[in-house]
Amino acid sequence: MIMSQSKKKSVKESPEYSLDRMKKEITELSQKYEELKLKYQDKSRQVSLFKAVEFINSEHFELKQFLDRVMDWIMVATKTESAALLLLDESEQNLEFKVAKGPSSAGLEGQTISKTEGIAGKTLSTNQPYISQNVQEDSNWSSRIAKTLDYSTVNLLAVPLCIRGVPKGVIEIINKNSGELFNDNDVALLESLSVEVALALENARLLDSARYRADNFTKLARLSAILNSSLDQKTVRKRALESVVELLECETGSLYLIDEERNELYFEVALGDKGDAVKEVRLKMGEGVAGWVAENGKSDLVPDTTLDPRWAKRVDEKSDFITNNMITVPVKAKNKVIGVLQAINKLDGRKPDRSDLKLLESLSDQVAIALENARLYEQQKEMFFETAEALAAAIEKRDPYTGGHTRRVRDFSLATGRHLGLSDEELELLEITAILHDIGKIGVDDAILRKPGKLTDEEFDKMKMHTSYGYEILRNVKQLAPAIPGMRHHHERVDGKGYPHGLKGKDIPLLARIICVADTWDAMTSNRPYRQGLSDKIAYEEFKANKNKQFDLKVINAFLRAYNNGEIISQKKEEELSSESE
Ligand SMILES: [Fe+2]
Ligand SMILES: [Fe+2]
Repeated sequence: MIMSQSKKKSVKESPEYSLDRMKKEITELSQKYEELKLKYQDKSRQVSLFKAVEFINSEHFELKQFLDRVMDWIMVATKTESAALLLLDESEQNLEFKVAKGPSSAGLEGQTISKTEGIAGKTLSTNQPYISQNVQEDSNWSSRIAKTLDYSTVNLLAVPLCIRGVPKGVIEIINKNSGELFNDNDVALLESLSVEVALALENARLLDSARYRADNFTKLARLSAILNSSLDQKTVRKRALESVVELLECETGSLYLIDEERNELYFEVALGDKGDAVKEVRLKMGEGVAGWVAENGKSDLVPDTTLDPRWAKRVDEKSDFITNNMITVPVKAKNKVIGVLQAINKLDGRKPDRSDLKLLESLSDQVAIALENARLYEQQKEMFFETAEALAAAIEKRDPYTGGHTRRVRDFSLATGRHLGLSDEELELLEITAILHDIGKIGVDDAILRKPGKLTDEEFDKMKMHTSYGYEILRNVKQLAPAIPGMRHHHERVDGKGYPHGLKGKDIPLLARIICVADTWDAMTSNRPYRQGLSDKIAYEEFKANKNKQFDLKVINAFLRAYNNGEIISQKKEEELSSESE
């Protein structure tokens, strides 16, 4: 009651004042309510935005999709009709519409304006929020883009988007729904949102680069495994170029190797449509970008070849190929430059950058390892062959009348093997087996081995033992074991009348069947102290006549094809040729 009395009293005391005051209080209260409501909404919206930021770390995150969602949300929060997010492009000279929302905004995304153009440009350069309550009367307003849209901009609020303190873009909101003007609350809200968007962008960039690195790492590991799965130099070189094209996403690649004797670089292989044309190109050390990289041992990035004075046009002129940009890195083995690897013309018109350079450098390390492994393997193989040849030569020395027999048997066998279509690996084994085919003669007495006349049956039996002795020798050397079957059975005959086991037909290992033909041809056509070798013509006829008895039909046909092709040079022909050249 007291309260009502006092209320009554106060109304009575000054009714007009009270009414004004009440009005004022109601207005203040409603304003506070609005503010509270906004704050509450802000909070709940902030939470949903944070959730959105968290979403960025999820596996299926798509930046564009995320930004679309954020911009939709910004329009709701600020009660505006349209919104746009502009970001500096790669050149940092233009602002690109990344997201455009609202009526008539279709087609705006992807368009660019100069970074100094219009209100967006002003906002970016000043790094300050910008309110334009009537753009038509605003001198900073650029109508260039707006004119292309079927939409009228009345008022606009723009805030800068700062990533690590540097303005990198602008968020614009356009036309308040209710036709109201933009106020400080809108500025505060949009500014706080831009911080979140910037954070999301930065996270996305980091995520993107982490994904890019992870992706490249996986690719690099796979390519390195492929590169190192071959010990053949030619294959490694070819795969190196294929790897450059795949990893760097470029049009083509080149691999120069260094010719130390001539102090030059040479193209070994080249991929691409016009690749063949540049196979023979040589560069002087220091010539062109590749020469510069080889000489200095440093990587180099040429985003535009027309602007680089070192660019050697010779390669392009010869290949009719246009090089726009390239990344060139040295290939180093044990700190020594052994070649130069190049990635030429990034695809999609992109310019190569530092990250491409780093990537090619990583690949180059793998290429160097693979090339070095292949080189060492080939060197080892050469040494291996040399050792085998030295062994064979030692036996030949004991039997001077058969000089050159091993070499010729090797040559005839290889020629036959090629006509049979053997693979490189099979030919390699054939070569080593042919070189070693008579290695067991080391265990045959000199008296028999060097006997100038025909052998008695007993002596011949002893001579036959050479295949068994050979087996005893080879089986103790692990690396030579694959040559055993071809060596052991090179005196078998397809009719089963040969030695040591009297094997028949296809039971005789293929390499043995080949060496048998080559060995017999040389024995027939070579001169011996006690007899003259047959002429090629007679030997050829005998071979044809004995096709099915002594020899394998397929093998002898291949041999005869090689002969007709001029690949079988008998001992006598060899001597003729050498006396002609003297
Ligand atoms: Fe033999
Ligand atoms: Fe022989």
